[in-house]
Amino acid sequence: MRVGVFDSGVGGLSVWREVVSALPEVPVVYLADQAYVPYGDRSPEEVRARVLRLAEWLTQRGCALIVVACNTASALALDELRAQFRNVPFVGVEPAVKPAVQHTQTGTVAVLATHNTLRSQRYVGLVNRWGEGVRVLEQPCPAWVNVVERLNFYQRAPRLLTSLVGACILPLLEQHADVLVLGCTHFPFLKPWISQVVERWRSTRANAPTVTIYDPAPAVAKRAQHLWLERAAGSFTGTRACSSSSARLREFWTTGDANDFEDIARVLLGHPVDAHRLTL
Ligand code: DGL
Repeated sequence: MRVGVFDSGVGGLSVWREVVSALPEVPVVYLADQAYVPYGDRSPEEVRARVLRLAEWLTQRGCALIVVACNTASALALDELRAQFRNVPFVGVEPAVKPAVQHTQTGTVAVLATHNTLRSQRYVGLVNRWGEGVRVLEQPCPAWVNVVERLNFYQRAPRLLTSLVGACILPLLEQHADVLVLGCTHFPFLKPWISQVVERWRSTRANAPTVTIYDPAPAVAKRAQHLWLERAAGSFTGTRACSSSSARLREFWTTGDANDFEDIARVLLGHPVDAHRLTL
């Protein structure tokens, strides 16, 4: 039995790394739908259709628990996934609106996500439920997804990254947002630049608030761990894959180019990975 983790691209690796550290001896299959990335601007119907195909493939590959490591896919298709695959527990990702609202001192928080996530009923429901009395600023950042997907941007253009990040974040800071919610799994890989922009901005303002950046990945991994252990006690074969080396426990698949995936994943994760191409 395995855990499946999927995203439109490499963004879900920000969740994958937390999942494998929470379940170090469990086989994990990562699937990136890079032939269709980005999901953020595709029609909801198209995203749903892709996500159902990915989930089907993962279940056929023996995944007994699936982490939807994509806010956009979770926002648009989590209910449908649960309805279609009744025996498989799904762990979704959503913008951390609740903790952000609880944490803010200025009364203003900002959610950075894709257009599709911000337009979804699931997200609107989250804000209606938790956002009362707090100003929730919404900032789509579609270009950030493309930057993380492309090694030549991500690795070789630090100045471009600083200005790209600054263009989205500075207006939010000027409006007193003191919590930035990373509502897309690609965005944690831009955290060094986000922090740099925030700190530079703070250094130019007297009494600037401390700014907190929320990434839900650790909470998602904790939930996956909890569900896995709960199931392991019942129907799953166990929590351990005793004789396998840890590299053998990690499988990476992409509907895009396997070499490109390996190149960018090595930079994002800090170690080499071996990826396979898949046509779906
Ligand atoms: N990483 C994804 C998310 O969390 C999707 C980005 C995209 O494909 O547009 O929303």
